[in-house]
Amino acid sequence: MGKVILTGDRPTGRLHLGHYVGSLKQRVELQNSGNFDKVYIMIADAQALTDNADNPEKIRQHIVEVALDYLACGIDPAKSVILIQSQIPELCELSFYYMNLVTVSRLQRNPTVKTEIKMRGFETNIPVGFFTYPISQAADITAFKATTVPAGEDQEPMLEQTREIVRRFNNTYGEVLVEPEILLPGNAACLRLPGTDGKAKMSKSLGNCIYLSDDAKEVSKRVMGMYTDPDHLRVSDPGKVEGNAVFTYLDAFCRPEHFAAYLPDYANLDELKAHYQRGGLGDVKVKRFLDAILQEVLEPIRARRKEYEQDIPGVYRMLKQGSEAAREVAARTLDEVRHAMRIDYFADEKLIAEHTLNYGHTQR
Ligand code: TRP
Repeated sequence: MGKVILTGDRPTGRLHLGHYVGSLKQRVELQNSGNFDKVYIMIADAQALTDNADNPEKIRQHIVEVALDYLACGIDPAKSVILIQSQIPELCELSFYYMNLVTVSRLQRNPTVKTEIKMRGFETNIPVGFFTYPISQAADITAFKATTVPAGEDQEPMLEQTREIVRRFNNTYGEVLVEPEILLPGNAACLRLPGTDGKAKMSKSLGNCIYLSDDAKEVSKRVMGMYTDPDHLRVSDPGKVEGNAVFTYLDAFCRPEHFAAYLPDYANLDELKAHYQRGGLGDVKVKRFLDAILQEVLEPIRARRKEYEQDIPGVYRMLKQGSEAAREVAARTLDEVRHAMRIDYFADEKLIAEHTLNYGHTQR
């Protein structure tokens, strides 16, 4: 059997650098690698609604934004199917059957869901839909028989849950579903890019993001205002690179060529870090270097986004086609699931014959 990718994002905002290094960049590489038979990229609007039930307009507005960010990064609809989760009702039916295979206590142990419950202040009133979204995510993944899910490490508990459901399903009803694995970013800095304020993660509500669609001026402003080492007050002071967001970003983005192009006094990042740690290297110089690198990364993304922005109806057409194509695949899996679960009554001639026979005997 072939290799299939499925991954996705909740459309609650535009995508930022954290998404880029954590997943988008790798998706494009995988898409272009030729190693996969199919690539599905899902805009997970139904999942976004599980904690935004009272604000569907926010989700509605961001679908096209996320699609534009995808296209801007190089996700190519000729190679990848971009789909909208809510347009595939088969996913709901799969979720409903999978719910029978998962216990409440198992869901309560999911560390990502636990963190999210705290962050959203849901402790005393968790929406059931939100609580069960890991099950729905298992449906997303298994409907397409995905083998590979490129995602950040916060998605590992979802993959673990999915594998458990697959095993339980296949043991109970027969081999239908495929066990997926997560594909994490290779570089530790990419695994968890901090916010510009040094907090653990970029998040819209914290206002510590650099968006892929930010213009050059906004990016520079964000970089120049970044959190560094709070004890590095004078240029001559020794500085810390651990927990220093500017250096974490350099770990994620900087390549040796960048030194030749923008900071030829140093040969590589180790030399730059050593100088910073010794003292005598100012934050501004390092930030200007980071800014130059980020502009180089973001410029082609912005340019491509601008092109796609000229044809919004075309973007919606692409989403519709992708969703329709995806729906056919999900429907085939659902047929197999129904058959394995023996709930395909009307397609089962033997069932009818058997009952006919039973009653035939008793009535004579
Ligand atoms: N939970 C993912 C996120 O918060 C989004 C998502 C939904 C997803 N369905 C998925 C990711 C399936 C990978 C596979 O970003």
